[in-house]
Amino acid sequence: MRGLFITLEGGDGAGKSTQIEYIEKFFREKNRVVVCTREPGGTRISEMLRNILLDKQNTEMEDVTEMMIYAAARSQSVREFIKPALERGEVIICDRFVDSSIAYQGYGRELGDMVAEVNSYATGGLRPDITFWFDIDPEKGRERAAKAGEPDRLEREALDFHYRVYEGYKKIAEKEPDRVKRIDATASIEDIKNEIRAYLEELM
Ligand code: TMP
Repeated sequence: MRGLFITLEGGDGAGKSTQIEYIEKFFREKNRVVVCTREPGGTRISEMLRNILLDKQNTEMEDVTEMMIYAAARSQSVREFIKPALERGEVIICDRFVDSSIAYQGYGRELGDMVAEVNSYATGGLRPDITFWFDIDPEKGRERAAKAGEPDRLEREALDFHYRVYEGYKKIAEKEPDRVKRIDATASIEDIKNEIRAYLEELM
């Protein structure tokens, strides 16, 4: 049995973490082995790269460098951790994946098609079975994220950057409606849970 690969996407402060816990519980109750991970991160090397990417002192980082480090962290995580787990039949829940690079680096940094190409090497073609995009207005998301603590290097970007990221997500969702499910992140936690449960039941 091949496992299931589920990703969550969206701007900061969209409330993904609460729903990750819920998705994990949903599958555990169905006696599936579930593993949660995040990007960038999830393996020792990817977490080291995460520190470089999010360190607010790294102001001189070039956009292409940034995109490639995200892809490098992803390549390590896919090969060391995600693919083997999927081959064992496990359910992988990943907080962010390639769509984040398309939205943040492709649209936010305006690097365009190069991002998808580099990432096709990083993932070896692995794609999520389903992706939940938490749709929240960037300004509102920023307000919510500010309550969660110190902003990292990406969160410190100006609002127009975050609006470009938002447009990127919108385009991805329009392009791939079968995979990417839009979730209204301003709905109540309970309503979001119910919506996600319906999608997961359908997926299974
Ligand atoms: P987070 O784990 O707190 O969401 O932090 C990751 C940050 O990195 C977030 O601001 C989004 C950004 N990011 C990218 O710019 N490109 C990517 O490919 C990924 C995975 C994240």
